[in-house]
Amino acid sequence: MNLAQFLAELDALLAEARSAFAAATDAAALEGARIEFLGAAKGRLKTVQKWLGAVAREDKPAAGKRFNEVKTDVEAAFAAAQERVASQGATQKSGSQLDLTLPGTRLRLGRLHPLTQTIEELKDIMGRLGFSPADGPEVEDEWHNFEALNIPPEHPARDPLENFYLAVAQASGRHEPGGNPTRTQPLIDREAHASRSPLLLRSQTSTVQIRVMEHQQPPVRVISLGRVYRPDEADATHYPMFHQMEGLLIDRQVTMADLKSVLRMFATSYLGEDVHVRFRPSFFPFTEPSVEADMHWHDRWIEFGGAGMVDPNVLQAIGYDPEVYSGFAFGLGIERLCMRRHGITDIREFYRNDVRFLEQF
Ligand code: FA5
Repeated sequence: MNLAQFLAELDALLAEARSAFAAATDAAALEGARIEFLGAAKGRLKTVQKWLGAVAREDKPAAGKRFNEVKTDVEAAFAAAQERVASQGATQKSGSQLDLTLPGTRLRLGRLHPLTQTIEELKDIMGRLGFSPADGPEVEDEWHNFEALNIPPEHPARDPLENFYLAVAQASGRHEPGGNPTRTQPLIDREAHASRSPLLLRSQTSTVQIRVMEHQQPPVRVISLGRVYRPDEADATHYPMFHQMEGLLIDRQVTMADLKSVLRMFATSYLGEDVHVRFRPSFFPFTEPSVEADMHWHDRWIEFGGAGMVDPNVLQAIGYDPEVYSGFAFGLGIERLCMRRHGITDIREFYRNDVRFLEQF
């Protein structure tokens, strides 16, 4: 090999090595290029070094000098590329991966349970009709759940098999004057344990009628929305725990016409159309007369709940003068109302907690 050929090989090698190192975009590609050009065993620089032996003796100093220069340049090109790749990797790790043009990660927002939404809506509608919300405890004594509501001890509604009586807890007293009716009463008074009324999970929100009237003089205009409990077997329209909305209005000269107007305005607001209401005779111990209220919606009469004029016996037991005051009360099943409006066919869907059902509301 003559000197000119040797120098030409060196120049070509230097140019190729520089472009290979410059083209490497990551550490793996750069390492491949390093092995190709600077590899200790089979690197191309090593191969050219071997050709040095074939150069004529008088040309060796020049060839050797140029070889060393090229080797230094190739190594420098590699070092520069190594630095570039390392700094690129660091930038990528420190945030250059953020691509503002990519679609964002969608946050799954929670929402209120359909029954909670319904309760809020019912409160809102009734609020516009002048009814304020009141609350009562879910664990009740027999006075509020039965006696004050004119339900005597022999009444079938008091049958232990029709109620969730609590085996251990007993009420502290039957009639607590004063205080705030919306405050939850203490559940268990251990001192009174032996002698007082048994406790049970309330079977209707009519208990709150009593709690409100015990603490308030007429006029009264309240609603109470909450859970009630009955040992009913769960099926498409029954559940052992469900929600009711109770309404109570007491004033002078209140009539059934007022009851019907309020129910009609309520149903029209909730269902969004002009709903007609009809009364069928019924019986509840705490109302006289008592009715089942139906509403006409989408060409069908559908049951709405129980209602009636508050029985004078109830007013008297509370201390209101039935000669002066009269009033109406009603109690509606909230699940059934919500089912009607949304076309839900099985009450159990509310309590399965399947998000595919819940997220539709
Ligand atoms: C009562 O509970 C009376 N307290 C209503 C009342 C209030 C009458 C004030 C007069 C004055 P009733 O047992 O019919 O009535 O229940 C009222 C509504 O609760 C029913 O119309 C129905 O919509 C709903 N309901 C009753 N049992 C269940 C159940 N197991 N699951 C779901 N909803 C029920």
